[in-house]
Amino acid sequence: MVTQPLLEARGIVKSFGRVHALRGADFTVNRAEVVALIGDNGAGKSTLVKTLSGVHAPDAGEILFEGAPVTVASPEAARELGIETVYQDLALAPDLESSANLFLGREVLRPGLLGRLGFLDNVAMRDRTEAAFGDLGVGVQDVQAPVATFSGGQRQGVAVARAVTWASKVVFMDEPTAALGVVQTRRVLDLIMRVRDRGLSVVLISHNMPEVMEVADRVEVLRLGQRVATFKRGEGTMEDLVGAMTGALVQS
Ligand SMILES: Nc1ncnc2c1ncn2[C@@H]1O[C@H](COP(=O)(O)OP(=O)(O)OP(=O)(O)O)[C@@H](O)[C@H]1O
Ligand SMILES: [Mg+2]
Repeated sequence: MVTQPLLEARGIVKSFGRVHALRGADFTVNRAEVVALIGDNGAGKSTLVKTLSGVHAPDAGEILFEGAPVTVASPEAARELGIETVYQDLALAPDLESSANLFLGREVLRPGLLGRLGFLDNVAMRDRTEAAFGDLGVGVQDVQAPVATFSGGQRQGVAVARAVTWASKVVFMDEPTAALGVVQTRRVLDLIMRVRDRGLSVVLISHNMPEVMEVADRVEVLRLGQRVATFKRGEGTMEDLVGAMTGALVQS
């Protein structure tokens, strides 16, 4: 049986001036799977994620979503497709509190006087934010403080919470555990598997090979802006993955 991928990138090219970040990169995300996207520093992983989530327009190539060609013209367009992203640089609004970050652009309104004026329902948004933090083990002493005052790990928690709160099809996570402690990393990995079990797909970028081997149903390897290998769970050893990343192992 041939199942149609949820999201497919074909031959994506993206250059920044003279830097060729993506040189005809292919990438596939199936339904309800965790796919790890791995590769050395500068291989093009973040650039690929940004072209699939509407931040960068590709110079060439094709993106298919649920089998149909799409142009992901903006992050808003990606969100409308059900795609949420935890960017490597997190992309939070530092002056706002966590709940305002979680609900940025999707604020919960409660009816005002005579139902005409809408007021932001801060209580509802904070409740939801605290529930998401509880799920993720994000420990924040003052939830109403601006996220600029948070630690790196706490900010990473906010970004992950926001993405999983809103995604309906796929969540891209660009090194979501890079700043996290042992306990929070465990929670995020468990969350990734729970999100997958809910029927969503998760794209995990990570340099942590044990983490990749543990949660990924499939691994795609990017090297010098191109996909050079894919492995199903159990197919490759850690040495194979590293070999594909460095070019020591060439997959036929
Ligand atoms: N906005 C940009 N302007 C100019 N060059 C860029 C830009 N974004 C990425 N690049 C370049 O594109 C190449 C790929 O970068 P990218 O961030 O996609 O790599 P990566 O695989 O995510 O690496 P890392 O593991 O270090 O995060 C690099 O050479 C980088 O310098
Ligand atoms: Mg990156």
